[in-house]
Amino acid sequence: KMDVREKKETVLKLKKEKRAIILAHNYQLPEIQEVADYIGDSLGLSFKARDTTAERIVFCGVHFMAETAKILNPNRKVILPDLEAGCSLSDTCSYEELLEYKMKNPEVFIVAYVNTSAAVKSLSDCICTSANAIKIIEKVPLDKKILFVPDQNLGEWVQSKTGRQMDLWPGECYVHVEFTHQSLLHLKKNYPSAPIVAHPECERAVRMLADEVCSTEQMIRYCRNHPAKTFIIVTEVGMTTRLKKEIPEKDFIPASTPRCACSQCKFMKKITLDKVISSLERDYPEIDVPVEIRKKAFIPIQQMLEWSE
Ligand code: 13P
Ligand code: SF4
Repeated sequence: KMDVREKKETVLKLKKEKRAIILAHNYQLPEIQEVADYIGDSLGLSFKARDTTAERIVFCGVHFMAETAKILNPNRKVILPDLEAGCSLSDTCSYEELLEYKMKNPEVFIVAYVNTSAAVKSLSDCICTSANAIKIIEKVPLDKKILFVPDQNLGEWVQSKTGRQMDLWPGECYVHVEFTHQSLLHLKKNYPSAPIVAHPECERAVRMLADEVCSTEQMIRYCRNHPAKTFIIVTEVGMTTRLKKEIPEKDFIPASTPRCACSQCKFMKKITLDKVISSLERDYPEIDVPVEIRKKAFIPIQQMLEWSE
């Protein structure tokens, strides 16, 4: 039986042999972040996936992210070490439901958060991530009515920042809605001078207490440039691992919820070193997106990359 160090060495060796690149989301386990070639938010990972020349992309993240990588780089193998690494937010908006809406409202401009299936993306006009959502909404022609799917909290935040009215799909992320106004006030008492940095998937009552609301990757720049030494981080706990790695001289307190000391996404945590090793060895499980969906979904993703570059 291998220990963590041996497992990491095995991953690095296999990665070389297989000419693979490991892309990891900021919420991944520390040992996964340590073997990754690139760690980032959904937007950064999309750009990396598009531009890589590696033979295989091992995606340490969740299913919609690996699908997006495949759509952007269809000639490369994209491997997701555990197909059960889904996203319950993404599941709140099904292809069938959105198709029904689209048939009834053909004139509406659909902006889909990247946390959606490839099939839902194929019905959309533009994709966005938490890093570029404001920018994207500001580019949508003013005479268009907008439907924003599927995260109502992110949608509401963008609406408040841009003044643009949108119809909001009633989805939410089970991890981010666990944080409450009360639990944050309580934490703030212990760290009165620590700025609060929150992800836009948090509810409004939480966002209103935040000094900064932004994507996971943008949190790094904010904390680096801010003079404070300690920060309260209101998102999935993996983010504090990444922050500590990037800014070792500062402290990051993961926000607690009324139910637990910190918040974990059970889907992100499905990816383990053992699964990365076996998926590299077997080239499996591979992500495949049917060609018609892939071609249609490419258009709004490409639109996003163009509008946010
Ligand atoms: P970011 O794109 O900000 O990393 O967010 C991804 C996500 O799944 C948030 O829950
Ligand atoms: Fe989905 Fe929420 Fe997990 Fe992000 S944290 S992958 S939105 S369930």
